[in-house]
Formats: sequence, C-alpha cells, structure tokens
Amino acid sequence: MVDDTTAIMEGSVISWNETPNTVEFFFSFSGNLEKHSFVNVGGMLARVDEVFSMNRLLQDPTEASLLSDEHRLFPTEELNIKYAKATLVKARKPPMPGDAVRLATRDEIVELLGIEQGLHIGEIEGHKIDVRLSLTKLFKKHLAILAMSGAGKSYFVSVLLEELLKLHNGPAIVVFDIHGEYKNCFKDVAVIIDAREDVTIGVQDLDLGMLKELFPHITEAQEALVSKAFALFNSSIDKKPEDLIESLKSVAKTNAEKASLPAVERKLDLLINRKVLHTYTKPEFQTLLEPGKLIIVDFSNVVDSVEASFKTYYMIKSMFQLRKEELCPPTIVFVEEAHNLSPERVQRRESAGKELIERVAREGRKFGLSLALITQRPAHLSQTALSQCNSQVFFRITNPNDLQYIKNVSESVSDSLVRSLPSLDTGEAFITGEAVRVPIFTKVRERERECQHSELTLEEMVAKYLEERKKRKEEAADLL
Ligand SMILES: Nc1ncnc2c1ncn2[C@@H]1O[C@H](COP(=O)(O)OP(=O)(O)OP(=O)(O)O)[C@@H](O)[C@H]1O
Ligand SMILES: [Mg+2]
Repeated sequence: MVDDTTAIMEGSVISWNETPNTVEFFFSFSGNLEKHSFVNVGGMLARVDEVFSMNRLLQDPTEASLLSDEHRLFPTEELNIKYAKATLVKARKPPMPGDAVRLATRDEIVELLGIEQGLHIGEIEGHKIDVRLSLTKLFKKHLAILAMSGAGKSYFVSVLLEELLKLHNGPAIVVFDIHGEYKNCFKDVAVIIDAREDVTIGVQDLDLGMLKELFPHITEAQEALVSKAFALFNSSIDKKPEDLIESLKSVAKTNAEKASLPAVERKLDLLINRKVLHTYTKPEFQTLLEPGKLIIVDFSNVVDSVEASFKTYYMIKSMFQLRKEELCPPTIVFVEEAHNLSPERVQRRESAGKELIERVAREGRKFGLSLALITQRPAHLSQTALSQCNSQVFFRITNPNDLQYIKNVSESVSDSLVRSLPSLDTGEAFITGEAVRVPIFTKVRERERECQHSELTLEEMVAKYLEERKKRKEEAADLL
C-alpha cells in the first residue's frame, strides 16, 4: 500500500505503440507503484492498469544462460527497467512523450472522484483513501453485484447492510437470503422471516393476472376456465385453496373446458404443494416495512427452485404495488442468485418473475423500489434487468462467457477493464456506473460484525443427516 507520505515514484511518458493518446499511455518509472493506483501526468489523472518490468539483456535465452553465478559477466540489474500502462481519466489532449509522471495526491483523487460522503465500503487500491458512495447514486437506479463464486459478493453485501443500518431514517431493506448466511450475522437487528412457512399467497389475493405471470405459458382456454372458477370462488364464503380447485371442477362444463381442466388443476396443485398458495397472505409488507428496518427472508429451508422463484416473485410484486401507492417507505431489495429469478434464457417452469423483475428494473426507480441484483453467473442474468442497473460492482470473474456478456451489456466497461477482472483478489472490487464519477478499484473494508459462517462442514452435514433420519424413524414409529 502506498502512503502519501512515503510515495516516491518518478516516471516519464514513453512513446510506444501509437501511444500516448487521449485514452492511454505508457511510462517508465523508478520507485514504488501499485497496479490500480492513480498517477498525475501534466495535471491530468490516470489509473494504472498494469505494471511491467523488463531487461533487454535477459530477453535471449543464450545470453541469459551466461548470467548464472559462474558466468556472471554483465551488471544486468542496472538494465532492469519498470514501466506501466495507464488509462487517462477524461483527457482532452494526450500527454507528451517525456512528460513527468508522479503519484496522484490525496486531494487530487478526492476532488476527481468526489467520494468523501456516503456509505463507507472500502479503500481505493494503492492509496489510503476511503471509498464512500452516495446512497442515492448507488441505489436509485439499481445495482448489480457480479462475480464468480467465493469472490466476495455476500461479504460486500453485509458491509453495505452495516452502512445502511447506520443511516438515520434510511430506506427499508429486504434481503432474500438464499443460503441463510445473513440471518446469523444480523439476527440482533433484523426481522427474520422463514420463506418456507411464512411467505404465502392468500388464495383470495390470487388473480388471473398473477397466475399468468406465474405461468407465462398458460393457454387462452385455460385462462377462460380459471376466470370462470375465480368468479364462482369469489362469491363463496369459505375460501381455502382447495376450494378453488373445487370451483374449477364445477365450472368445467364444455368439452373444451374439461380438456383444459387437468392442466389448470396441475398448476394450482403445484402452488398448494409448494406452500405458495395458502389461506392467508404472509407476510404483511405494509406493516413490516419501516424506514431503516432490515428484513431478512430466509430461504435456506426452501429446497425447491419453483417455490423459491414463486415466493420471491410474489414478495417483489407486493412491495412494488405498495410503493406505487406510497403505502410503504422506499425500499432496497437485495436479490441473491438473481439469475434464477430473472434468467436470460427462460426455462419453462422457472420463469415466474422474469418479466416482473424486468419491469421493476425499468420502472422501480420512479417509485423508490431499488434492486440490488447479485449473481455468480452474469451471463445467465436477464440482459434487460442487468442493463437497468446503472451502478455495477464487479469482483473476480474468470468465465469467458460471463466476461463477453459483461462487455456486450455494460457500456462503461472497457476491454482492458474486462481483462483485469480475472486477476482480482477476493474482496477486491471494480466499481463503475452512476455510483462513481470515475470507475475505481476498491478493497472492500473489513466487516464490523462478527459473522459466523453458516456453511456446514462435511462432518456437520453427516451429523445433521443422522439426526433427521432418527427423527423420521421416530415419527414413522409413532404413526404405527
Ligand atoms: N472484503 C473481504 N475481506 C475479508 N474477507 C473476505 C472479503 N470478501 C470476501 N471474503 C471472504 O471470502 C470468502 C468468500 O466470500 P463470499 O461469501 O462473500 O463470496 P461470494 O462471492 O458471495 O460467493 P458465492 O457466489 O459462492 O455466494 C468468505 O469466507 C469471506 O469471509
Ligand atoms: Mg455469496
């Protein structure tokens, strides 16, 4: 880490390979210089993309072999040179070959980036300067957090949550905790909802529009049958999910209706079996969502992906509706594994939510419902949803398809930045888009909370399995 007080780096621009130009330049230097730090050249700032070292004498293997200890003939170290490639920030003219290059000062960087106020998420790489991001710029137009597995997405989200919780009257926060990893960390401050038991669509709240969004492939004949069944069902007093199926059966009179019946019945059965459709709607977001309050929806007991996507769909829909009517505070929703909810290529049974997420991505900003879409497979996330995320945080990504996809979807990511994504360290992020005036590499700060890692060891998994097997046997014995 280069500190302002100890930074002695002196360099000069070299003329090489059609550079310098207004985008990039190379410079040779002496002293210390870290990749991703900022330098000043003739009053302009530039970010160091790569640092190289070379020695002309050591390019040829035959000559290099003369340099072993017995044959040391030349003072080779003196011919070692260091040079670097840097990308200029908003330059209107190129630097000139020979121009002096020095490390940028703290004041120059702070002025350029304007990052003194806001959520403290880490430090600029190569400088001891805090990165603070504006709440509005980061979330107003949605955020994407993209990286391969284990690169630091969830850790970063928990840092963001810590910062959001420090705000006075901040937005409400909802986290879809797919693996149950946030609930341990924030259990003292969050309301935790079990997605398996406590997220259900009350049968009286189900309507045709919703059914069509849950099952986009429903046919017109099936729709007509469901409409008739809803009319009958709504006039009845007793309203249990099973009664809706009874209504369906009793309204299926014509041959066409009878032909549609099994398919519609299967759909409703699916909703009932997966504990999606229930007598009452839970939770009541209107009373639950409060400014500054954190709600963690724990999906760790939901093993079925259809159930997970239906329930996530329903919660986002409810919050979107409430925001449209201003019946809840502005809300930020963190969606882990967002590629499952809003996939680029839709699998027939798992498409609930794709259109909704895309609509919320397009319109949510107007209503104060912000999405933070988190995924380890960017190429599988809907292009429409991703392109609505005006701020993006990338951690390490190595998959070539993901890298290509990012290049296609994100205008603010240059080729050289995409090339740098595979070599990022865990916890090292590249932030771009509206949240920052200039794209920056950031080392995400340490989490303040002690968070137990909820992932089980293999031994613990075996113990859990044996425990559950014992319980099942006891239950079976009780029944006999
Ligand atoms: N900024 C950081 N500082 C310290 N440790 C970190 C940091 N970021 C991540 N780690 C550590 O790296 C490991 C993986 O991080 P994390 O769980 O955030 O990855 P992920 O991108 O969410 O992975 P997955 O896609 O599998 O969910 C964790 O053990 C975490 O503690
Ligand atoms: Mg994670």
